[in-house]
Amino acid sequence: MQTDRTGFSTRAIHHGYDAAAHQGSLNPPVYMTSTFTFETAEAGGAMFAGEQAGHFYSRISNPTLDQLEQRIANLEDAEAGLATASGMGAISSVFWTFVAAGDEVIIDKTLYGCTFAFLTHGLPRFGVTVTPVDLTDPANLESAITDRTKIVYFETPANPNNRLVDIAAISRIAHEKGAKVVVDNTYATPVLTRPLEHGADIVLHSATKYLGGHGDLVAGLVVGSTEDMKQIRLIGLKDMTGAVMAPLTAMLILRGLKTLELRVERHCQSARRIARMLEEHPAVERVHYPGLDSFPQGDLARRQMSDFGGMIPFEVIGGKAGGIAMMNRLKLIQRAVSLGDAESLIQHPASMTHSTYTPEERAEHGIAEGLVRLSVGLETADDLIDDLMAALSQHNAIAAE
Ligand SMILES: Cc1ncc(COP(=O)(O)O)c(C=O)c1O
Repeated sequence: MQTDRTGFSTRAIHHGYDAAAHQGSLNPPVYMTSTFTFETAEAGGAMFAGEQAGHFYSRISNPTLDQLEQRIANLEDAEAGLATASGMGAISSVFWTFVAAGDEVIIDKTLYGCTFAFLTHGLPRFGVTVTPVDLTDPANLESAITDRTKIVYFETPANPNNRLVDIAAISRIAHEKGAKVVVDNTYATPVLTRPLEHGADIVLHSATKYLGGHGDLVAGLVVGSTEDMKQIRLIGLKDMTGAVMAPLTAMLILRGLKTLELRVERHCQSARRIARMLEEHPAVERVHYPGLDSFPQGDLARRQMSDFGGMIPFEVIGGKAGGIAMMNRLKLIQRAVSLGDAESLIQHPASMTHSTYTPEERAEHGIAEGLVRLSVGLETADDLIDDLMAALSQHNAIAAE
């Protein structure tokens, strides 16, 4: 089916798949195979030499992964895609491909904790200079970038506090110096933001989150130009990390993508209601949600996002102890890290996902010790509001004592 000019969900369901070529199977077959046979020894040699197309080993390519790679590339408006074993597998494969000792990398100050650890503790051990910069102000990039900067890397919205980065402004400055712009689009998903349209070069995902959408897998995806994806496949993925996705996981993500737009719409709708409720609650000190009038980067949010996502970081009275006590009173919302699942999940970044930062780094990088991070799920919004209200009303009573 030709899907190039159809809507997002039509492409998420159909792009790149022709049932007639697979005995009418409605869903793509799962190629559970590690290796592929060669018609002749010469044909095998030609494939290894890159002179003949075809699959020869599933660490390099696999037809089920191909299907997923084409689909995510289409949804992100990219030339090509690449599937990896995890979001961290995607991130590390990109960096190992494009940086070497002596190079510089500029990263935003607010990143998922393990990304921050890899970039600030891991990469420097191999002679790469990594500089965290507050990219919410593009002028800071202008001062920090040099001719040795190879990659400018950020998340928007950023985990855990929803700070936004202006993709177009950052891309203009980075490209003047010949640096690649790599965006982690896990939070927004291509439903809400397509960073390549704003000038980014490479987009990656923890597909563990909204793209998979059901909390039953760990996976990563990368998209960008055909040439960049080829380089990452043959260097970062094949040789340096080996972080390849399993075919069954690819099938589960293809299934998740079919409902991505529908799910994200519901996540956004419920999150908007919950964020407003939280903001008005006397036990809540601050809510960081791009859809609220109080959000300091509202203009950028409206320019760069078509809606504001399902993630709500907020702070309750009583700082860390207050936040943790409130979390422990919740009955429906589950205490767990990760995000983007059908189940609403809540966690405390300072002691969990962002414990890889020192307390000083968290303070400097805008990650409050009392912040709790709610991933709004797909349950009936009224039930989520009731659960939060019950936990917060007890909080009021305790705070008043
Ligand atoms: C924004 C973001 N990027 C990357 C990752 C890493 O992904 P994974 O856990 O799939 O390795 C995470 C995980 O929480 C994340 O939240």
